[in-house]
Amino acid sequence: MQKLVVLSGAGMSAESGIMTFRDMGGMWEQYNIEEVASPIAWQQDPQLVLDFYNIRRKQLMEVEPNAGHFALADLEKEYDVQIITQNVDNLHERAGSTNVMHLHGELMKVRSEVDESLIHEMDHWELKLGDTAEDGHQLRPHIVWFGEAVPMIEEAIPIVQDADIFMVVGTSLQVYPAAGLLSYAGHEIPKYYIDPNAGELHISNMTCLNDKAGVGLPKLVKQLLSMT
Ligand code: OAD
Repeated sequence: MQKLVVLSGAGMSAESGIMTFRDMGGMWEQYNIEEVASPIAWQQDPQLVLDFYNIRRKQLMEVEPNAGHFALADLEKEYDVQIITQNVDNLHERAGSTNVMHLHGELMKVRSEVDESLIHEMDHWELKLGDTAEDGHQLRPHIVWFGEAVPMIEEAIPIVQDADIFMVVGTSLQVYPAAGLLSYAGHEIPKYYIDPNAGELHISNMTCLNDKAGVGLPKLVKQLLSMT
């Protein structure tokens, strides 16, 4: 099977009803990043940070994967698919994708604020002050905040280097190191960028599809499946 690697971003889940970050009316117009998604915010006002992620988690439990997520899951019939997502939602998994790497953490997981290895799965939406891990320390969202390292990037790079086909979906490619993954894809392999604002990317063998994920992906996946 050919190795097909997908880098997804917030636009992937937009049609499920989850807001993107940098579009007009996006999350970072409504919230100040430093106040809700940084280690300093957590030190200064943990309740505000918990509230922010509790709202996101509650919403995630109410939405469903969209046609784009399902199309990527379908690809596994004929391709060895690895999804590398910047998204903290679990919609790829819920659509049936089996290899999903979360670069920026996971909303449905929380961890000790001291020992990063003490990770708990949430089965409800609300994380409260006073909820502790087995080391007695407060649980925090299992999210990579601004100013924190992105440990999974080291695992992601060789996966992209090894890809036979590379696909980028629903990301503004403005946040590093995630956006830098594009430069590790082989020069000669076919590449696709699906995003209503894809425009033109001047990269070898890159096809830009100015489409929403829920529209463009089912079409592209059908085409890719018919080629095997
Ligand atoms: P952005 O909000 O920066 O970009 C969203 C992209 O989705 C834009 O390029 C939109 O054009 C596109 N888009 C909107 N609707 C779409 C649709 N229906 N189908 C496909 N694409 C659509 O989000 P990211 O690039 O994912 O980090 O942002 C990267 C990181 O910045 C996030 O993971 C988050 C954020 O701050 C953390 O929280 C650590």
